[in-house]
Amino acid sequence: MFVFLGPPGAGKGTLAKRLSEVLHIPHISTGDIFREEMAKGTALGKLAKQYIDKGDLVPDSIVSEIVKGRLSQKDCEKGFILDGFPRTLQQAEALEEMSNELHRPLKAVVNLQVSEEEIIRRLSGRRICRNCGAIFHIVNMPPKKEGICDFCGGELYQREDDTPEAIRHRLQVYHQQTEPLIRLYKEKGLLVDINAERPIEETIQHLVKIAEGNDLH
Ligand code: AP5
Repeated sequence: MFVFLGPPGAGKGTLAKRLSEVLHIPHISTGDIFREEMAKGTALGKLAKQYIDKGDLVPDSIVSEIVKGRLSQKDCEKGFILDGFPRTLQQAEALEEMSNELHRPLKAVVNLQVSEEEIIRRLSGRRICRNCGAIFHIVNMPPKKEGICDFCGGELYQREDDTPEAIRHRLQVYHQQTEPLIRLYKEKGLLVDINAERPIEETIQHLVKIAEGNDLH
């Protein structure tokens, strides 16, 4: 089990998706799960939207229940990458319980480090495919055709929580509620700091080496 930790826009989704393809293990993003539910208009989606659009965290009990259900699915038996969970000390405790129950120890927590200036640049230029969830950036990773996904031809959109106001709030929430996890996992000897300002392929190669060294499957 592999956890990706980092501020909004650090590249968690981009890197975790690529790494999951290389390692052939699922990429589980709590943010993606909520966005799918929001797109379908389910009760969970409607509830999550009230928090997400403002940049607040969805309550711990709801997120932990969803992750628990997802981790018990068959495709997680060979390992998985968790992106965006845990995000609070309470979620970290819930994850520890899940990992004990599933006999799947946490092997490493990758802490993606990016400056705040770069985060703002990345989030304000991000575009997502409405259909397949692929991530683009209008400058760093532009689609071949403006507004259209390279992979499925779907429409690209800007997330509601990528407005300057919501970004500022998400960063505050990250510093208050998620940053304490860095110390927690450092003390447990699980933290791996990664400079995530480098080109994606360079970072992926570094992550693959770490994964191989840690037997993350
Ligand atoms: P979530 O979707 O997890 O959002 P986040 O943590 O704010 O992270 P982002 O998705 O914004 O960024 P990222 O680090 O994945 O960066 P990306 O790869 O897209 O969660 C959304 C919301 O859901 C939360 O605010 C909360 O409300 C709720 N939620 C989710 N999990 C929860 C939990 N556990 N508890 C409670 N609530 C929860 O990259 C960003 C941009 O940069 C892209 O455009 C990309 O193309 C570009 N980029 C990436 N890497 C590079 C690079 N190396 N060089 C250049 N450009 C790059």
